[in-house]
Amino acid sequence: MTKKEITIQQGIMAFPGFPIVLVCVKDNIITVAAVSFFSFGDRQENPPMVMVGIVPTRYTYELLKETDDYSINIPTIELLEAIKICGSKSGWEVNKFEAANLTPKTAKKISSYLIEECPVNLECKVVHKVELQGSSHTWFIGEIVAAYQQDSYDRSQAILYWPREYRFIGEVIKK
Ligand SMILES: Cc1cc2nc3c(=O)[nH]c(=O)nc-3n(C[C@H](O)[C@H](O)[C@H](O)COP(=O)(O)O)c2cc1C
Repeated sequence: MTKKEITIQQGIMAFPGFPIVLVCVKDNIITVAAVSFFSFGDRQENPPMVMVGIVPTRYTYELLKETDDYSINIPTIELLEAIKICGSKSGWEVNKFEAANLTPKTAKKISSYLIEECPVNLECKVVHKVELQGSSHTWFIGEIVAAYQQDSYDRSQAILYWPREYRFIGEVIKK
């Protein structure tokens, strides 16, 4: 396989994409691509965990100093404008539920709101924070304590992002 050396930045950009989620902390929403599952939760001793990476200059980061929970809300294409608004405007200046025309829904087990218009909502309690000297993002690992999904939702409706490009996932190639 012939390869040429690329810059490290190009190496990071070679990932196919990361899921776009709307993360809600208290009553603020932030668009996040730095999201991953952390633990499957397939056994009682392995609780289901996910993590989100938040840049410390964000208002969301300030809120996470006072709040130990967040919700992860998976948007679909109808919410593309809301994704852009929540990913460019700051809670320091605007109420993003109003700016993006989204509806806050009270969660069952956490204090942060859920987003009614998103077909999937995960309620998460922060169990660990990873703050590395020099890292661009601080990672908040959350245990999922409740989850909701609209009947008609299918994973293929979720949106991927990377870099500066929104996509759907491709076809299933093997089951
Ligand atoms: C597609 C997309 C993905 C983003 N991913 C992240 C992310 O993973 N982490 C982060 O801290 N900011 C991310 N941002 C930027 C924040 O969403 C943006 O700075 C937002 O205005 C911060 O809001 P806040 O100040 O209310 O917290 C992303 C923005 C976009 C448009």
